[in-house]
Formats: sequence, structure tokens, C-alpha cells
Amino acid sequence: MTDTLHYQSGFGNHFSTEAVPGALPVGQNSPQRPPFGLYAEQLSGTAFTAPRHENRRSWLYRLRPSAGHGPYAPYAHDRLKSAPFDAAPPTPNRLRWDPIEVPVEPVDFVDGLVTIGGNGDVAAQAGMAAHLYLANRSMTDRVFQNADGELLVAPQQGALRFITEFGRLDVAPGEIVVIPRGVRFRVELDGPARGYVCETYGAAFHLPELGPIGSNGLANSRDFLAPVAAFEDLERPTEVIQKFQGGLWAATWDHSPLDVVAWHGTLAPYKYDLARFNTINTVSFDHPDPSIFTVLTAPSEIPGTANVDFVIFPPRWMVAEHTFRPPWFHRNVMSEFMGLVHGAYDAKAGGFSPGGASLHNAMSDHGPDLASHQAATEAQLAPHKIDGTMAFMFESRWVIRPTKFALETSALQADYDACWTGFPKAKLP
Ligand SMILES: [Fe+2]
Repeated sequence: MTDTLHYQSGFGNHFSTEAVPGALPVGQNSPQRPPFGLYAEQLSGTAFTAPRHENRRSWLYRLRPSAGHGPYAPYAHDRLKSAPFDAAPPTPNRLRWDPIEVPVEPVDFVDGLVTIGGNGDVAAQAGMAAHLYLANRSMTDRVFQNADGELLVAPQQGALRFITEFGRLDVAPGEIVVIPRGVRFRVELDGPARGYVCETYGAAFHLPELGPIGSNGLANSRDFLAPVAAFEDLERPTEVIQKFQGGLWAATWDHSPLDVVAWHGTLAPYKYDLARFNTINTVSFDHPDPSIFTVLTAPSEIPGTANVDFVIFPPRWMVAEHTFRPPWFHRNVMSEFMGLVHGAYDAKAGGFSPGGASLHNAMSDHGPDLASHQAATEAQLAPHKIDGTMAFMFESRWVIRPTKFALETSALQADYDACWTGFPKAKLP
């Protein structure tokens, strides 16, 4: 992974790219004879008749039609789970997990996926799942495809290279990559790799509306990077694994399906460097709701009520006057799964470690721990920069039900509630 990759910029742009000059048809999508005998294939990310501003589709020009493969057979995977999440009862308890170490035994990105929880219904295309990946070797002669939804991947340890039908993307901790529903890819890595995955079964991720913020700010469109066309011409058996309605299926193709020589369109994988987030916060007092930190939102049918939001807590200046500056105590109608890429989160003085996770479901009481609360109430309120940190949240309108694995792993902390004990009672006059 030493070569430097090139990208095209802009969120949801109509891109055009060819790895071989002359491979991309001009002026039409489906010529009688595409250049070089390539095969044209449309990949839809939305219904054909979705409104124009929502519509996502791309045309791929491949060495071979991807339809040329045999049947899929079930593929065993014990830890990758899908909605409905009914193997364990939903819990109102606040949960937190220590980081889980990357195993020593060889495991790649697909086999290293483990589901912590989720909600909704794959078949109804509603809801989401929160997964971890724990991997230590590249996917070799195997490719993954998720027919159940879009994947947002946030590396926490180790860089990843995504080799996709659309080209290649490099992502390191502090960046994210989004792989649209159905796009085939494999993941290469150089060493132990750990991170978080948000799977949305519903609408794809969008940029949030900006309202009175105006035409700039938060995650700016130009900072989203899509790959340029790059293909591999490998005529050897390749295992293609797909996730379909919660189950995994595998078929052996006689070639790599990552053989797209040129493509154009509005549907493509993309990456984003979270350091590019234009963070907006108060310059007077109090602080806005954490929705001000929304990077991407996968909407539901109810305006403003997301299937799942991807929210970050990036480095930022804290300048609020006469204000309790960390996140306040709250109970939220939405459900919050949190992770930490690096550094420390300003509401938790301890116990929430990089690679770990927490779950605060609908209406559960949470907020700063005792140590963070005491420090914040006694602090001299000079301008202060929170630096060297990147926490994030998958926030969903539905309760996130933990998996059996999540409830039974030794990484689940037994004493999380204790961080909210010992608060002195208020003294009335
Ligand atoms: Fe919260």
C-alpha cells in the first residue's frame, strides 16, 4: 500500500472516469458495441423513479458481465448479525465495552466482523446495525458485497485499502469510507486492524441540511472523495461473499469481479477525512444539541428523525461563558451507540477507551461521569481547546438491541453504572 491513490471530489457528483483511454462511452450509456468490447451494466442505488436530487445510479463498463456466475450457497459466520435483533432481550441498561483485541489467528475483514447491536428490519429496509471489525490479514481472492444496506466504516487501528469495483480508496484512523449497497469490494491491510462499521438498511447516507448555518459548514461537499476507475484482470477462482437478508452466501467465480475499466454516474463509494469537518459550536453560552456535529445522515420517512445519523465529537475550541461545557445530563428519544477513535471524550474521565463502545438507548439517563462533572463545574472558564480526540456516535430513531455476543463478551463492563454514583445532593437554602 505504498502507491498514492487519486480521487475525484464532491459529494454525490456525477463522476466520469476511465482507467484506459477511450473506455468510457461518450454521449450515451449503452452503445450497441461499447469500446473494446466492454460490457455495460447499470447499478442502481435508488429506485429508477426516485426524485432527481435523490437519484443515485452509475454505469459500469466491465471486462465481463457480472451476471456470469453460478449459484450461491450459505456461508457460515457466527458473529455477523442482522435485524431483526431478537436473540437477546432489549435492555434499558446503559452498557459500555472495553476494546476487544484483534485476534492472533488469521482473520480478514469479512470474517472479522462482529455485531454489537442494531434495530429495524432488513426486509423492510429500515433500521441499522453497529458492527466492529477485528482483522489481521488482507482478503485474498475473495470479495464482499452487502445487498442489505450501505456500510460506513471508521477505522480505529490500522489503515485499510478498499479495492472496489469503482476503484481504490485508502482510509486510515480519523477517516471514514462509505460503501453503497451492492458494491463489491475487498479490503487489504498491513497489520492488525480494528474499527467500527455502521450498516444502514434504509436510505443511503446524505449530507445534513444546513438551515440557518447557510451554504457552508459541517462536512463540506468538496471534501468527499470518490475513486478513479481501476480494475484487476485476474482469471483465477475468486470467492464472492454476499450478505443478503441477513444471511451470508458464497459463490466461486472464475475471475475477479473487480474488473470495471470505466464508469460514470452518481453512485460510488467515497471517503472523508474527519479532520476536514468544519466544526460549529457556541461563541456565547450553553452549547447546541450534538446534532450540530452531524457528518452524514441516513433519513427515515419522518423529516428530521434519522434512521441513523453519523455524528462526531472532533477537536474544537470551548469558549462558552458561565456554562457547564461538557455534554449535559440528558435522556434522548433517539438511541446512541458511541465509539472512540483516539483520545478522550469530554464527558468521560475514564472507562471509555479508544476501540471501546457504549450504548445509551432511548430514554436512558446519561451524561458526564462524576470526575468530569466535578472538573467542569470547578474549571476556570478560559478559552480551552479540546484536542487530540475523535469520538463518534451512531444515533438511531429506534432502540438498538445488543446481540448475545455483546451481552456475553468479557469486554462488557460490569460496573458502568458506577460512574454516575457519588454525586452530592443539591443543598437547598
Ligand atoms: Fe447522549
